[in-house]
Amino acid sequence: MKIFLDTANLEAIREYNDMGLVDGITTNPTLLSREGGDPQKAMKAITDLIDGDVSLEVIATDYNGMVEEGRKLRGYGENVVVKCPMTADGLKACKKLSSEDIPVNVTLVFSPSQAILAAKSGARYISPFIGRLDDTSQDGMTLIEDIIEILSNYEYEAEVLVASVRHPMHVVDAAKLGADVVTLPPDVLGKMLKHPLTDKGIKVFLEDWKKLKESP
Ligand code: G3P
Repeated sequence: MKIFLDTANLEAIREYNDMGLVDGITTNPTLLSREGGDPQKAMKAITDLIDGDVSLEVIATDYNGMVEEGRKLRGYGENVVVKCPMTADGLKACKKLSSEDIPVNVTLVFSPSQAILAAKSGARYISPFIGRLDDTSQDGMTLIEDIIEILSNYEYEAEVLVASVRHPMHVVDAAKLGADVVTLPPDVLGKMLKHPLTDKGIKVFLEDWKKLKESP
């Protein structure tokens, strides 16, 4: 399973990229606005820093605007994936950009039927937002299960990119289902690393080693 970071925070991207854990990045307007500054510069900096796929989202909501913006975003680097929303215009733009070899991530997917249409439109990635479904008392992980099952019946290019991930168990459950990619806020990746018994174990090992060295 590929791990993407869901952030526009360069410091966090550098930290986990240096550990070799980052296969790609997803951003969106909210994540960019959280960082402040010039979003264009931030998107270019992320694209330059990361070798893997970097999803950059269009702001336009009409077909022509999305295609034009998508081509411009792709100009930032060969690793740019254009993020288009799951709308009629977004799917049309997905088809057009994909035909120009510009990969598209269809975002804001909340149902299996939307995922089918995104796959048919040539999406490279389909992004179901599981946390936001959980927030409305629907089971986000069931959506992942459904989409994986549907895609496995056909030869679509699309990969399932699990988004709106809120905690490590989302990641574990997505991995059990065989999801292609999960995109994680940096704090969730940090939590995946940690276990109190690991910290306790290291402490005890070091104390015991010290005793050994102090004994006559
Ligand atoms: O990748 C999508 C993500 O940024 C949305 O997450 O937590 O706002 O639902 P959230």
